Amino acid sequence: MARQRTAATTKSWYDTPLYYDMVYADYTYRETKFILKTLRTFAPQLTAPYRILEPACGSGRLLESLARDGHQVDGFDINPRMLKFARQRLRKQKLKGKVWTSRLEHFTAPERASYDLVHCLVSTFKYILTERGAVSFLRRAAEVVRPDGLLLLGIHLTDYRNNPPDHERWVGRQGDLRVVSETWSHPAQRSTRTERMQTRMHITQGQRKEITDTFWKFRTYSAPELHQLIKKVPAFRLVKCYDFRYDFKHPRKLDHAHSDIILVLQRRSEP
Ligand SMILES: C[S@@+](CC[C@H](N)C(=O)[O-])C[C@H]1O[C@@H](n2cnc3c(N)ncnc32)[C@H](O)[C@@H]1O
Repeated sequence: MARQRTAATTKSWYDTPLYYDMVYADYTYRETKFILKTLRTFAPQLTAPYRILEPACGSGRLLESLARDGHQVDGFDINPRMLKFARQRLRKQKLKGKVWTSRLEHFTAPERASYDLVHCLVSTFKYILTERGAVSFLRRAAEVVRPDGLLLLGIHLTDYRNNPPDHERWVGRQGDLRVVSETWSHPAQRSTRTERMQTRMHITQGQRKEITDTFWKFRTYSAPELHQLIKKVPAFRLVKCYDFRYDFKHPRKLDHAHSDIILVLQRRSEP
């Protein structure tokens, strides 16, 4: 008998927060440790419990892990399902944390908010499709981060001279539910500073099989383009770069040695 193929449907993977959450769960511990270590290392004058903002907080996996460690967490996102999921997970665990709807490009924050750290990892910053939006985000972050506080930005860089299609795969399991997530980036378009992205999720639970496709565009950054962007917001200075191994023993330079990079930016104390 011929095997039936499951047809893919197109929808946003962020509309299924549990599946998103499952595929990134393995990274949460390492990212949490990294976030806290950057504070202890680069801002030793700031003391725990820390006040931490996560722009585009998604399912709230990092809100939860940081709140569990006793820190005060806030987050925002544009996807209402992600926000609902994040709120519920905090409530279920009896953890405190504010979560609201906002856009990266011109985000709102509680009045007189003053965070020790703002973090935006896993390339989320690349959802901002214009230079103006990116500068606006950084300026807004500078307003809400306290002097000497930190902004962490994790992205994949683009080397336009060497830019083959890329593919990454993650697997998440919970009981009999299995989610395989594959993400492709297509070669970047230098003229528009965009790259087409696709995520395909294979969801299997018992006899149930579902495949969903999500398509979107990211803004691209070469190392010089990222340097130039940072220069436009002098309230921040670049103090160190790492990669997605989150390993303090291996800092890197802002260059094209390899693609993934995490910038540690520090809010200058002088105006
Ligand atoms: C890759 S997820 C990251 C979620 C979370 N920060 C984490 O590390 O698990 C990207 C998130 O960005 C949100 N997002 C995309 N564009 C946005 C925008 N312009 N403003 C606010 N949130 C946005 C999506 O809804 C999604 O939850």
